[in-house]
Amino acid sequence: MSDLKLGAIAPDFTAQTTEGEINFHSWLGEQWGILFSHPADYTPVCTTELGMAAKYKGEFDKRNVRMIALSVDGVASHLDWIKDINETQQTTINFPIIADEDRKVAELYDMIHPEADDKLTIRSVFIVGPDKKIKLVLSYPASTGRNFDELLRVIDSLQLTAYRKLATPANWKHGDDCVISPSVKNEEIAELFPKGHTEIKPYLRMTPMPE
Ligand code: BEZ
Repeated sequence: MSDLKLGAIAPDFTAQTTEGEINFHSWLGEQWGILFSHPADYTPVCTTELGMAAKYKGEFDKRNVRMIALSVDGVASHLDWIKDINETQQTTINFPIIADEDRKVAELYDMIHPEADDKLTIRSVFIVGPDKKIKLVLSYPASTGRNFDELLRVIDSLQLTAYRKLATPANWKHGDDCVISPSVKNEEIAELFPKGHTEIKPYLRMTPMPE
């Protein structure tokens, strides 16, 4: 198994998808990426998740994030299932789904947790930066569908904090005040954060979210 820790390079692979063969790193290009796995085709929670993901694609696009899903079934099965997803979720699937029949990608990304299920993948989420490094890893059991608002929220935080000396506090969402990184000296704050700041404690300094 490869190194899947935060900051490691996301393992590269070439796989068949519903949009043809994709080499993951080339396909990402300079963009951010979200890779999320589904236990299997024709399962109810996955059907709702993929439909929801399609409806949120515009929001991922705005954030320069490419979406790619994975399930351990073949392309023909995926394409047939997509008809059901589009019909039942009133949407059109608009991103590729990896056909990981040989579980090559699932194993590369440690998406099969045998204590949960020895054949199906769990609901994994990997968010990858433009530098191809892993920025976030989430694991959900098959019985719990993901919240796409939460995925956008963490992407907003990851992108904000990647480029500024900021962190985001509990329950933060886009537009809320941010935490100034502990590495920032008090004398640097005025230049870095011209909107001002509040010192609640010397180690807890808040500033409005920059534009
Ligand atoms: C589902 O997507 O609904 C599902 C898949 C595997 C186990 C339980 C639920």
